[in-house]
Amino acid sequence: EQHRQIEETLAHFRLTKDMLLEVKKRMRAEMELGLNKKTNDKAVVKMLPSFVRSTPDGTEHGDFLALDLGGTNFRVLLVKVRSGKKRTVEMHNKIYAIPIEIMQGTGEELFDHIVSCISDFLDYMGIKGPRMPLGFTFSFPCKQTNLDEVSLFSLDVGHWHLSLPHGQEFDLDVVAVVNDTVGTMMTCAYEEPTCEVGLIVGTGSNACYMEEMKNVQMVDGDEGRMCINMEWGAFGDNGCLDDIRTNYDRMVDEHSLNVGKQRFEKMISGMYLGEIVRNILIDFTKKGFLFRGQISESLKTWGIFQTKYLSQIESDRLALLQVRAILQQLGLDSTCDDSILVKTVCGVVSRRAAQLCGAGMAAVVDKIRENRGLDRLNVTVGVDGTLYKLHPHLLRGVTGSTASYARKVWGASSLLSKGRSLTSESPPTPASSPWLQVPVSGSSFLCLPPGFFLSFISFSFSRIMHQTVSELSPKCNVSFLLSEDGSGKGAALITAVGVRLREERN
Ligand code: BG6
Ligand code: GLC
Repeated sequence: EQHRQIEETLAHFRLTKDMLLEVKKRMRAEMELGLNKKTNDKAVVKMLPSFVRSTPDGTEHGDFLALDLGGTNFRVLLVKVRSGKKRTVEMHNKIYAIPIEIMQGTGEELFDHIVSCISDFLDYMGIKGPRMPLGFTFSFPCKQTNLDEVSLFSLDVGHWHLSLPHGQEFDLDVVAVVNDTVGTMMTCAYEEPTCEVGLIVGTGSNACYMEEMKNVQMVDGDEGRMCINMEWGAFGDNGCLDDIRTNYDRMVDEHSLNVGKQRFEKMISGMYLGEIVRNILIDFTKKGFLFRGQISESLKTWGIFQTKYLSQIESDRLALLQVRAILQQLGLDSTCDDSILVKTVCGVVSRRAAQLCGAGMAAVVDKIRENRGLDRLNVTVGVDGTLYKLHPHLLRGVTGSTASYARKVWGASSLLSKGRSLTSESPPTPASSPWLQVPVSGSSFLCLPPGFFLSFISFSFSRIMHQTVSELSPKCNVSFLLSEDGSGKGAALITAVGVRLREERN
């Protein structure tokens, strides 16, 4: 009976191919509404023009500053782009923390903070004086009227024309402002010319792609293409996904900071998956299926499973050990059966996330194919974000953003190179850091960053997403390219084009 009830609950998360095809179809319909001038007002998927009209062609050249404000990190970069036979891109960067009060504060506070980070970076790099063009990628929606004119929806700065901030001893020449999806697409397109789509699966989720200008009714002109920042996280905000949303999704939404908003994103991205899982676990505990019916204080804590820094586990045996150790740290006294059920729940929630993301992507690539009247389309999607970057690598170490987080905490850049293991030979985490040390075997332990919850999941998000896209869009050959350099490099490339256009104008 217990087994039946559990299965019944989890069944709501298991989507059939027909349901996924339906999601794809609805996404396509919302895209059309957003692109159409008559319906754009009411559309929930905003389809924002980025004013980026082409992917890089190798002629980009110069030294640029780039700011990359992602969900996890804020990076300031110096990017030196060289064109010619031996195209090179040299990057120097420093990661800065953005305190939570500033992140949730006013737009002005945020930008004051950003300006002081830039000032520190210029000092650190020994750059003073020359006015350097700057490109900015960030993970907020922004409504643009040009490449360098932007207003930020979620920041109360209204229409914000970027100009030189007063009272600073350096000039900021902001040439380009782009969404992180656009920066990611451009970063990947520099290496791979077939990259015409950008995807972020991190704290939030969103996509962009190259659309035909004749379909972009919000901008004058019919020639060529423009990159569209879809803001697909808002898909479903008009209720069109209500039939597949579960009660747990509704609970997560009701306790979020933006109730009713970003419904698709809330089923997909790292910021919310841990919360969905926590709500299921609470329900199962109440029903007596878990933790001997005892709901601990930590299980009641909103965001305890919030997932920003993830690592994934390879072997099932270790996974269970780890699950139990982690639950223990959370004050949840688990039996072996508990840990199996917790792991199942995580798997089901994440699998659905990967499939939904795949269904959205299938709509995008098929639209590009139809736009071009092709029977088959070869296309590459540039991808970034902590959730997507998950790979099974328990003992092979902690990589990606987790490694950069470690660098930030420890201030040592060589400590964690990709693929190196974080075992007892590595210096243990300092007492001040919030990392957990989970024993793995003998004297080894695994250091887990805060928000490690999805490390329970022993399948790969990327694999399931790829599979879904190829099932739902069989006429497209879609390759996925992980952006190793973040989206700041893309911002610099866009800035290079912006500088050239500006010079041509003058
Ligand atoms: C980073 C990109 O690698 O990934 C950012 O450089 C992007 O531009 C970020 O916003 C998204 O991932 P997360 O997990 O930080 O939200
Ligand atoms: C959120 C933001 C969007 C961004 C995405 C990924 O959905 O609204 O602009 O691209 O997160 O970071």
